[in-house]
Amino acid sequence: EKGGYKHFMLKEIWEQPRAIRDTTLGRISLDSGQVFLAEMGLASEDLATASSINIAACGTSWHAALAGKYMIERLARIPVDVDYASEYRYRDPIADPTALGLLITQSGETADTLAAQREMMALGSKTVAICNVVGAMVTRDAHGTIYTHAGPEIGVASTKAFTSQITALFLFALHLAQVRGKLTSAESLHLCEELSRIPAKMIDMLKAVSAQTERLARDFSNARDFLYLGRGIHFPMALEGALKLKEISYIHAEGYPAGEMKHGPNALIDETLPVVVLATQDPSDAGSRLRYEKTLSNIQEVTARSGRVIAIAVEDQEEIGNLVEHVISIPRAPELLLPLLEIVPLQLLAYHIAVRRGCDVDQPRNLAKSVTVE
Ligand code: M6R
Repeated sequence: EKGGYKHFMLKEIWEQPRAIRDTTLGRISLDSGQVFLAEMGLASEDLATASSINIAACGTSWHAALAGKYMIERLARIPVDVDYASEYRYRDPIADPTALGLLITQSGETADTLAAQREMMALGSKTVAICNVVGAMVTRDAHGTIYTHAGPEIGVASTKAFTSQITALFLFALHLAQVRGKLTSAESLHLCEELSRIPAKMIDMLKAVSAQTERLARDFSNARDFLYLGRGIHFPMALEGALKLKEISYIHAEGYPAGEMKHGPNALIDETLPVVVLATQDPSDAGSRLRYEKTLSNIQEVTARSGRVIAIAVEDQEEIGNLVEHVISIPRAPELLLPLLEIVPLQLLAYHIAVRRGCDVDQPRNLAKSVTVE
């Protein structure tokens, strides 16, 4: 049942190229660049007129939501708010029937996410679900559902469901942008083509980084704490990398926006602290280049204090190799698609560290696969 893999988590990490392909299948045209999400059951009219989007989710799905905010705001120029589902109800959210609600949940059964959905509906919003389980609770009340086609996820630590959610969010953002006339057809086509190239790039990358992350796990599995840093859409990937590590290896880990280091966390840095930095970029994108430059100076601040940096970077970035102890190279991609690639080495690193520490990777202590109580 584990298909020759030692754990479900490892199997599911390797299934990601297939999961992303299946989530994309039939939803994009590589002739026109059009994205088709008719299954959502929402009229284009609703999508064209939505004044804002509220996203609620928990855990890993909340990290996908944060990445979704960057995608939707960047491509469709609609303001997006992201809440922890467990907090949404308690902040007395403001009723706005023109705001669209979006629930992201692998299982579709998470109690807090369902409660947030009910609250959104009570406030007059239509809701859309991004869900991996056909017919799950969240889909029953939603006006529309975008299914992720990750297939059943058994490991408690979410991996393929996460990258499928990111894929679905990218499609949703593209679709919104198209409905609202925010992209030229050449831009749409380019992004669709790039998305369709991700699975093959991911297969190559998995082969390349597997042994490397296993080696790194040997060096770092005794660390007491880990820090993960990123900027822009890479900040939620830092949060997700940290969550993966803490939930399966029981090592304390935190994700931080790289630019926040000076405001407190720099005090933690010493020669025992591994700092994983998402230092990827799309060199053809001016905003991405600028963000990358800033992240490089954050890396220098860490190394100046003897912190041990593991950087994730796109291939052929010589300058970074001169700055840090360890670089994990990933393929190039447009800025908004880099998260799909850069999260994979972080999943593998967490996995190999947990295995070395003798942890129960698929069934970590104190956790359940779906959290159906509040
Ligand atoms: O089924 P859901 O996506 O609603 O689950 C949300 C979280 O409970 C889930 O992502 C959890 O954080 C995972 N164990 C993380 O790996």
